[in-house]
Amino acid sequence: MAPTGECPRLIVDCDPGHDDTLALVLADVRGELVGVTTVGGNAPLVDVTRNALLVGQMYGIDAPVHRGAARPLVAEPRNALHIHGTHGLAGPVLPELERAVASDDAVEWIIETTRADEGIWLVPIGPMTNIATVFRLAPDVVDRIAGLSFMGGSADVGNHGPVSEFNTLVDPEALHIVLTAGVADVRMAGLDLTHQFVVDDALEADLRAIGGTGAVFAADMVGAYLDNVEGWVGRRRGGLHDPCAVLAVTDPDVISFTDRHVGVELRGELTRGMTVVDRRPGDRETNVRHGHTLDHDRARSILLDAVRARTGVSS
Ligand code: RIB
Ligand code: CA
Repeated sequence: MAPTGECPRLIVDCDPGHDDTLALVLADVRGELVGVTTVGGNAPLVDVTRNALLVGQMYGIDAPVHRGAARPLVAEPRNALHIHGTHGLAGPVLPELERAVASDDAVEWIIETTRADEGIWLVPIGPMTNIATVFRLAPDVVDRIAGLSFMGGSADVGNHGPVSEFNTLVDPEALHIVLTAGVADVRMAGLDLTHQFVVDDALEADLRAIGGTGAVFAADMVGAYLDNVEGWVGRRRGGLHDPCAVLAVTDPDVISFTDRHVGVELRGELTRGMTVVDRRPGDRETNVRHGHTLDHDRARSILLDAVRARTGVSS
């Protein structure tokens, strides 16, 4: 846990997931990770929740884990097992599970925590189901949080659809609720940004060169991720998505933002789950700080330093 009082306090809502794992390490090293909540996404809820606990063990993350929603608000569940593996964390040898969830009600915990402690950042990096439910059950939370930084959507191509990014495609209604809730500071790390954070064999090698259990765990994750991406799209290169949403809060100067209006397509036959980022010139109503340019070298260096800081601490 980072020293208190000098860095942002974060609640990360996630579906670990290879990139979620690295985002959690960044959040605990570069910020003050108040808690972790889980949502069904990359893998079923039971798997992503177990993975969140295992990642905490592996990297010495003390934050409590609270289980959240198993399925989207309206849509049928879908997953990304072909990328993240059968149980969501393919690649490394997983340690024996020694921890348990702090509760089975992530939504209630987020509401209680943000009502008791103003100025926390919400950092959703999976489908937005839990956060949308928080805002619907407790609209007062919208003005109590410092802001919301999410990985989701895209200003150009999609990944799990021609124009649809996975997190948004899983629960587009939830993202619509969040983007229309009136949060004053919403930061978007969409695929147009996160594809700039390159995952390739060089990153695997640099992680492995750090040495120690945590770095080897991360390198094994990246290797498995690249194997699966290669099988899916035919090349060993991807984007390190979720860490960008954490950096947008802990190290915002590594990302360039422009205020935009962003909406979510809910009805399109071909475009459901598309985020429509209005990049036209002119004075318009905006609801999102759209992250569009990443200082890749700095972001990569911060990530490697964070893994280096936690590589030998597994419990
Ligand atoms: O589209 C990328 C997003 O989907 C990331 O959050 C990844 O973990 C998956 O959840
Ligand atoms: Ca994720």
